This record gives sequence, C-alpha cells and structure tokens, in this order.
Amino acid sequence: MASFSSLLLSISSVNPSPACSFPVHNHPRKLSCRASADDHASPGRRNLLIGLGGLYGATAGTNHSTNRDAAVAAPIQTPLPSQCGPADLPSGANPVNCCPPVSTSIDFKFPSSSTPLRVRRAAHLVDAEYLAKYTKAVHLMKDLPESDPRNFTQQANAHCAYCDGSYDQVGFPGVEIQVHNSWFFYPWHRFYLYFHERILGKLLGDESFALPFWNWDSPAGMQIPSFYTDTSSSLYDPRRDPSHQPPVIVDLDFSLNTSTDTGQALIDDNLKLMYRQMITNGSTTELFMGAKYSAGDQPDPGAGSVENVPHGTVHIWTGDPRQPNREDMGILYSSSRDPIFFAHHSNIDRLWDVWKTLGGNRKNYTDSDWLNASFYFYDENAKLVKVKVSDTLDARKLRYTYENVDNPWINAKPTRGGTGKAAELKIVSTFPVTLSKSNAVASVKRPARSGRSGNEEEVLLVQGIEFQRDSFTKFDVYVNASSEEALRPGVSERAGSFVHVPHLHGKGKGATGKTTLKLGITGLISEIGASEDDRLVVTLVPRSGKATVAGISIVLSS
Ligand code: C2O
Repeated sequence: MASFSSLLLSISSVNPSPACSFPVHNHPRKLSCRASADDHASPGRRNLLIGLGGLYGATAGTNHSTNRDAAVAAPIQTPLPSQCGPADLPSGANPVNCCPPVSTSIDFKFPSSSTPLRVRRAAHLVDAEYLAKYTKAVHLMKDLPESDPRNFTQQANAHCAYCDGSYDQVGFPGVEIQVHNSWFFYPWHRFYLYFHERILGKLLGDESFALPFWNWDSPAGMQIPSFYTDTSSSLYDPRRDPSHQPPVIVDLDFSLNTSTDTGQALIDDNLKLMYRQMITNGSTTELFMGAKYSAGDQPDPGAGSVENVPHGTVHIWTGDPRQPNREDMGILYSSSRDPIFFAHHSNIDRLWDVWKTLGGNRKNYTDSDWLNASFYFYDENAKLVKVKVSDTLDARKLRYTYENVDNPWINAKPTRGGTGKAAELKIVSTFPVTLSKSNAVASVKRPARSGRSGNEEEVLLVQGIEFQRDSFTKFDVYVNASSEEALRPGVSERAGSFVHVPHLHGKGKGATGKTTLKLGITGLISEIGASEDDRLVVTLVPRSGKATVAGISIVLSS
C-alpha cells in the first residue's frame, strides 16, 4: 500500500501554526513544534540507524527525513531471555518478574500437515465434554512447577514482558519492544495463543485440543461465557467486574462512566460498532492491522481499528474496578492471568481471518520489516522457539481453524444520528487541545476531489495524541455530528475511538505515551451524504482519562 509519506503535502492541518508539522506515519525526525517522545529519543537513534543501514547493506542514509524506508529498513528482533529486564509495573501492582527462564533457542517449525486440524469453537456453544477437557488442561497448566516456562503464570508473564518494557530491540539498547499499538498486534498474539493451545493439548495428551473463542461480536456471545464464572473452575478469576457477570450484555464501546443502552439497543450498537471497525475503518492494511514499526522505532506508532475498539474496551469492561489498576483484564501486565484473555484474543485472531475475506484492499502487510520480525516463545516441549511474523500468515499451516459462525455485523451499517447541519455547531477548538471534560470541535479541510483515482481511502488523522500510560484513556471521534444527540454509539457520524489499555514501558521511559489515530472515513462520508463537502466538522469527545491532541487532518491513502 502507498504510505502516507507521499501524501504529506495534501495535509491541511488545523494546527494554528503552519510552521509546525507532525510526525505522520511514524516519520522520524519530522519538524516538530516542541520536544516530544520522538524527539528526545532522536539523537542516539539516528546514529544507530546509520550503523544499521550499513549492517543491512541498505542505501546510505542521505535523507533521513524523507526517505526513511530506503535508509533503514530492518525488522525488529527480540533478544534472548538472558537479555530480559524488569518490567515497568503500575503502582499498586505486586512485584513480579515477567522474564522467562534463560535458554538457547531453536527455530520454529510448522507442525506436520498430518497433525489433526484443531477447530476453535465459540465459547457459548461448547459442550460438557469439551469443557471438562479445557478446565482439566488449565488446571494441569497451573499445577506445573513455577520454574516450568509452560506454567500458567509463566505464560501470563510472557505477555507482561512483551508489553511492559522487558525487552530492548536487538541492536538498539534502550529502545524497547512493544507488541501492542502497531502492526505486531495480530501476529504476536497469534503465536502467543498458538503455543498456549499446544501446551494445553500436550498436557491433555490430545493434539486436537483447541482454545474456545469469545464470540462477543454476535448477539448470543455478547456476555461472559457462563463457564468462566464457575468459582470452582480453573477458568475462574475473581478479579473481574462483579457488575458485568452474565447475563449482562457486553458493551463493546465501554467507557467507564458513560451511560449506555441496554438490551436490544445495546446489541444493535455493538453490531454497528463492529461494522464500523471491520468494514469502513478496516478498509486498508494499515487501518486494520496498525502502523508500521521497524528496527529502531519508538513503540506505539498506532493501533489498528479493532485493536482500539473492541479489543481495548472488552479488556476494560472485563477487569475488576475494585483492584488498583482494574486487574486482571483491565491492564496489560496482568490481563492474561485471567483465562478469559485467551478466548478474547481467540476472537480477535478469528476476526483477522474474517477481515481478509471482506475484499477490497484487505490484505496482510507484505513489508519485509513485518515478515521478518522475530519473537521468542516456549513451546509445548518447554523448548525456546524463535518465530517470525511470516510464520503466522496462514492459520491452517499452524493446523488450526475456527468453527464457522455468522458475522451478523456485516449487515449492521450505522444510520444517521442527527439531521441538522453540522455547520451550526460552533467551532471551538484551537490545537493542541486537551481532552478531559469538554469536547473539541474543529473544521477540517478535505483533500481536493479532482484528480482522484477513485480507489483512495480518505483517512482522518488525529495526530500527536499524548496520554498517560498508566491510565485508561478513551476518546470518541465524530464527523458532522449536528447535535449532542448525534454523539452516541451506533450512529453514522461516529468515526471511531482512541483507546489506551494501561501498560507502562521500560523504567525511566516516561509516563506519557504518544501516538496517532487513523480512521478510514470514505464509508462514513457516503453514509452521511457529505461527499460534495469541502470541509468536515470533527468532534472529539473525551470519555475516560485525559489526552492532548496536536492536530487533525484528512489525507488520502490507497
Ligand atoms: Cu496483548 Cu489484549 O492484549
């Protein structure tokens, strides 16, 4: 896909100072208005990049600011566990060492094609026989010696190590690896679940054992699957929100304090939100999979549509408000201590496969920085295995698949929430703007309509988002909302959301995160009949936590 870089000139930022521009598409060292996370990491990184360029025989870095790919293309590599360092845990968390046992590694090999195909079933549809197996397997996993890397707690810690700054990139001391908020989100979690599932199968002596998936995108699956709430089960976790127990319907748009619909209205909102995230917001590789993230880059270049919502919102909705950080599910260091994590992510993994069948530009990245990035996991034989993103492209090669279920959101196109003209709203905000209590409203120029090929996606960029890493942050984005009534879930005007599920980064890396939100709005524009408009009114609605936004613009991407 074309990168945003060639389209920078078409940006009409609403930032009041025309001399400033923002690091779009993770462009390193773009002129910036003030010191940012990017900037203070800059000098050391520049030197390292030049070194790396030589190492990989890439074109010498003659023009770092505009030709980054040619100068420094290289995939991120994870170091061996011997290089794993302390995770940065939030206050209130019990100290834990998230690093796995030290070992040498072997390269990943696909299971033989004669291994039984494991079929992951919808959690609300499994039978008693399956359930007995699953609970037994998790029980056995929890009973393994603590030092065994396959032990349940060790498995949970592996997630913590990869999301709370335990690993620095090979060749980039001090530049941590983060598997959320970028193009690693889908492949890394695919392998995480793969090994978890294989270990459970090994403990059962049943190679056909498969994880369930929490089918929260379908009405019958929109609650915590009941077997997770049996207090005597190995699948139970007491640290969940007591007010979200079945049959309470999951709110895929959960924002802590906002009042929401209930019953059928909530189900409809959920389906429309899925339509928005999978179809109109997931219309290109980057919009769905998350932003490019290569060797030397700082973490969090930007999450894909579904990673923000509902992935992030379901984490928060499930976690326990009585715990200091909404543990377990509501904060990443502890989230996979709850067995429901694996069913949640199994559904996310399923949606990756579903997305590729939706047509258009919905294809995996082909960038070698993505394909050749590597991680380490312990396998079912307690051997440390080095895996590459390219090994995750085909679930069948990993010998698993998903039970066929309906995806009812495919037909749940959102409808207009308001009828008045958006222009009647007062434009109130100058940028940068802090979102905590009041909405920000801006008029944003669209790229010229002449000379388009017709295949481009119009992308709304919410740039320079700064947020507190240790707090749940969510704001919603609306286009041409004519009144307060249009600022609700399930309406066409809703472009998407920014969601930060709390996690910290390596010690001393700062409590503030910085990223960009990219929302595909071509479908939305046609839904609201704004195709001929030259400008759109964008409303940012803070829902939880506090964030600062540096600017908003609209660009074309193909
Ligand atoms: Cu690795 Cu749902 O988080």
